[in-house]
Amino acid sequence: MKFGHFDDEHREYVIETPKTPLPWINYLGSKEFFTLISNTCGGYTFYKDAKLLRLTRYRYNDVPMDINGKYFYIKDGDTVWNPGWKPTQTDLDEYECRHGIGYSKFKGVKNGVRADVLTFVPVNDNCEVSKLVVTNDSSEEKNISIFSYVEWCLWNADDDSRNFQRNFSTGEVEVKGSAIYHKTEYRERRNHYAVYSVNAPITAFDTARDSFLGLYHYAGNPEAVLNGKLTNSMASGWSPIAAHQLDVTLKPGESKSYVFVLGYIENPVEDKWESHNVINKKPAEALLAKYDTDAKVDAAFAELNDQWDKLLNIYTVDSSNDKVNRMVNIWNQYQCMVTFNMSRSASYYESGIGRGMGFRDSCQDLLGFVHLIPDRARERIIDIASTQFEDGRAYHQYQPLTKKGNSDIGSGFGDDPLWLIAGTSAYIRETGDATILDEMVPFDNDASVAQTLMEHLRRSFGYVDTHRGPHRLPLIGRADWNDCLNLNCHSTQPGESFQTFGPSEGPVAESVFIGGMFVKYGNEYADLCDLKGLTDEAAKVRASVAEMNEILLDSNAGWDGEWFVRAYDSYGNKVGSKECEEGKIFIEPQGFCVLAGVGTETGQAQKALDSVKEHLDTKYGVMILQPAYTVYHEELGEVSSYPPGYKENAGIFCHNNPWVSIAETVIGRGDRAFEVYKKTCPAYTEEISEIHRTEPYIYCQMVAGADAKFHGEGKNSWLTGTAAWTFVNISQYILGVYPTLKGLSVDPCVPADFGDFSVKRIYRGVEYDITVKQNGAQKGVKELIVDGAKIDGTVIPYDASKKTVKVEVVMG
Ligand code: BGC
Ligand code: NOJ
Repeated sequence: MKFGHFDDEHREYVIETPKTPLPWINYLGSKEFFTLISNTCGGYTFYKDAKLLRLTRYRYNDVPMDINGKYFYIKDGDTVWNPGWKPTQTDLDEYECRHGIGYSKFKGVKNGVRADVLTFVPVNDNCEVSKLVVTNDSSEEKNISIFSYVEWCLWNADDDSRNFQRNFSTGEVEVKGSAIYHKTEYRERRNHYAVYSVNAPITAFDTARDSFLGLYHYAGNPEAVLNGKLTNSMASGWSPIAAHQLDVTLKPGESKSYVFVLGYIENPVEDKWESHNVINKKPAEALLAKYDTDAKVDAAFAELNDQWDKLLNIYTVDSSNDKVNRMVNIWNQYQCMVTFNMSRSASYYESGIGRGMGFRDSCQDLLGFVHLIPDRARERIIDIASTQFEDGRAYHQYQPLTKKGNSDIGSGFGDDPLWLIAGTSAYIRETGDATILDEMVPFDNDASVAQTLMEHLRRSFGYVDTHRGPHRLPLIGRADWNDCLNLNCHSTQPGESFQTFGPSEGPVAESVFIGGMFVKYGNEYADLCDLKGLTDEAAKVRASVAEMNEILLDSNAGWDGEWFVRAYDSYGNKVGSKECEEGKIFIEPQGFCVLAGVGTETGQAQKALDSVKEHLDTKYGVMILQPAYTVYHEELGEVSSYPPGYKENAGIFCHNNPWVSIAETVIGRGDRAFEVYKKTCPAYTEEISEIHRTEPYIYCQMVAGADAKFHGEGKNSWLTGTAAWTFVNISQYILGVYPTLKGLSVDPCVPADFGDFSVKRIYRGVEYDITVKQNGAQKGVKELIVDGAKIDGTVIPYDASKKTVKVEVVMG
């Protein structure tokens, strides 16, 4: 069952009812100023850092769900309604929400009045713009009142939700004309404030929450709105808000339009004040003036759309499969931008106060983003590498505002160092810009111990190479990609964090998965050594990689007979082996070892992937492990803490489904690669939205596995490495347009009935127009013709002197 439909022409998902199975959200902003917005206008706004600079308040896990947001109320006689249905939940005659690329549109109709809202964050300003158009579609004159409402957050969202003894006494505001200013803590150590304004004279306002809502009311029935009259309250302590009232008369057929702007302003310390305790509003007024007419707003909206036209023009596919076209050309790339911006910090399931930017997460997010804005990827790589320790380990997370490592979670995740190689290699393969390797980059943000980025990568590789266990496999530390394999933790008391409890490393617990990463990214690091002319180092790295390859294939170490072992616990016992009672087979090493090329010549790769199909497959995707753990294993950690079928305990963890799909392309099985791709693909799961529940236009982190009560139910949408890895899978492996250090390689692996297709790819400034004649083949390039001339192999040598290159591929 569907709750809406895709409008590909406008790059929108059109939600037809406010009663979606979960809030279906969108992200506005793509640089520093961000808003989360749901299909019923819930959500919140922050500047740069969802924890440290939160502008508006949201209440996670509240009931009814998703109740705080930025709302417009319309009072028409005794009826009060919202264009997005919430929070009054007054039945609407018509409702529609269109989530687009960087904007959302709402249409609500009630009793002959129509309200259209367009909300977006302009490309170059720190504000959110909402254009509200009210139209009288009835045959009588209408006298209505419009109210706006936002609730300010006192900047630090963590403190804001805990420290009430202080916070109930700190709120401060100013009002000038139609502009309401939130200036809590501005008198002391902050030099930023927020403003919410409308481009029309207002009848009244409120800035104190209690006055607006009424002590015993809530956002669903604000007392001042029900009374039809805001009270001009000035917040003092307690909870500051911003609410405007506009009284409007509309003749039959008449429309009126209002622009609301919610902005963030930073003043230089010496220019903070206009007069004693009166804030300097000049920059705010300048900002508001940029969006004070419809024409200016329309121009800014056009600029946003132009920006996305350009970005989404970098990789496009034209195939006979509409769903593939839609995901590749629009939604998958859009989600890659969002995950790049947010890492795992702020979604409807990540509260924005728990985690900042993840080291491994951001390195992986880069893989699906780097082609869009390589310069931002470059900057991000340097930021991430700056949080690395001198010995090659890394902080697991850092705050986007300070760019410093979070010491509460610390370090010790065995896979982290290698992801830095993955991200850097992707950047250089995309851009050809090897100068990044010469950049001086601090360790632990200490510039006095800076080294080149190449040296950082050397230490990344070296750390894993020198931290091995009894089978010469990499030590796992606190965990590897699977945060829930906490093999050194041994926690027995509730409340101990699986991520930080116990030693950060032990000498025995090993990860076969990191072994697979070592092969994949060791090889990529060796290629970078060659690029830098370091042939001896490249040879040494390759020798280590070759040794690891053997270890992974060895039935006394990485190989279990029918699949790869997952790990060895701190007692030296196997995890993910036929010898285990529960958790006999895990997905991660099967996908990653094979995509790294391990076992492709010995038949073990095929065997491992056949085992995945036999033991882990479901109609909704491939599960992370089987059989699910039914009891808590203290020697394994969080993985066995979840009820069977959820999260890392046998859920369908979407992130590693593309690894399996990529692995299938590596061994040339296009039918199976595509089958795996389809199972978790939003454009396909749209049809089962009532089961899947999360947004049908983007990936979620986890779909409940076969053991779960709600098999097929998605959770934790938006912020997942699935976005980047799926884009890598479909664009580089299935459609086969893969950036190498020397140029673009074209080597598709598609299902037998996929048909001919074409890809347009802008790569290092050159446009490649690639057409593929499939001939029913799943893999294999029989002929590669570049600008009319046949070439050998699959790599088109990069030629900067060309503007466009015509590429014809004949498969077979
Ligand atoms: C989750 C993981 C997550 C980790 C982060 C665990 O509870 O299951 O998916 O990565 O927390 O702290
Ligand atoms: C989500 C985390 O963000 C990611 O880093 C981790 O790899 C997966 N969970 C699996 O545990």
